[in-house]
Amino acid sequence: MQLTADGKLKHFLTTEGIPPLLLEEILDRAQQFVSLPGKAQVKAPLLRGKTVMNLFFENSTRTRTTFELAAKRLSADLVNLDIRNSATSKGESLLDTIRNIEAMGCDMFIVRHSSSSAAHFIAKYCAPHISVINAGDGRHAHPTQAMLDMLTIRQHKPDFTPLKIAIVGDIKHSRVARSEIHALTTLCAGEIRLIAPHTLMPSGIEQMGVNVYNNMEQGLKNVDVVIMLRLQHERMNTALLPSVREYYARYGLTEERLKLAKPDAIVMHPGPVNRGVEIDSQVADGPQSVILQQVTNGVAVRMAVMAMTMASQASLANEGEVK
Ligand code: CP
Repeated sequence: MQLTADGKLKHFLTTEGIPPLLLEEILDRAQQFVSLPGKAQVKAPLLRGKTVMNLFFENSTRTRTTFELAAKRLSADLVNLDIRNSATSKGESLLDTIRNIEAMGCDMFIVRHSSSSAAHFIAKYCAPHISVINAGDGRHAHPTQAMLDMLTIRQHKPDFTPLKIAIVGDIKHSRVARSEIHALTTLCAGEIRLIAPHTLMPSGIEQMGVNVYNNMEQGLKNVDVVIMLRLQHERMNTALLPSVREYYARYGLTEERLKLAKPDAIVMHPGPVNRGVEIDSQVADGPQSVILQQVTNGVAVRMAVMAMTMASQASLANEGEVK
């Protein structure tokens, strides 16, 4: 559903099934858009005349703001729909909300929702000239997060094939982990290790081609990249951990544990970071941390994806006119 007949990006709903060349194109385009904090920001006219609607049904700091900055740096008009004060609270259905926004004139929906299929649903039912970008749906996918993580890894370690990458923490509830596994597999990463207690490891996850560890010390040995995840209490229906203190004692990333990874290993975290729960402050703010670089790359990756989807829509419109 997310690709056009000639393999271009129409929507961006998941990293699953995206061909390697297209993932690399996203990374290459994004690299061109990277601009460092403190430097003058150059505006590109690629989305001039386009209207982008941020539809965030769940809270967000990084994703919502970087999509907004990305849209503005591409010269689009952007509206943040205030979901809490919208007619959703009066019982309006998601589909009716979409139809009404379409009627106002809109070219792109950026969707974050607690339901695992919300972005696909909107892509299925919205008008054909609209592109939908998944900004995180339930436990399912967070494709732009995965791509900004891939860009950050590539900036430090350009060849994915020899890399050992550990993803640590609440894998069970993590849309980021799923999207990263798909992207890393397509980019031919050497080894993907998942490290978590049994209760936070989805059963059968080995089928995705990953190696599973329940012991942090064993899993971290000689890795090139450590990706820490937050405990997602909002998606836990039952108590899955004895206590946060015990979790930190066994799975928290401390300076001592980080020494088990390669000396030049990088430490990543999609945020929000819970210091003293999954990661020690000394590590989060330490020399191996690239956590804020991930955030900077978020703007660039979102600019790339927005530009690519709108270019696909322009080609489709041209083809329609020619016919
Ligand atoms: N990484 C991430 O999705 O952060 P936000 O929830 O702040 O958008």
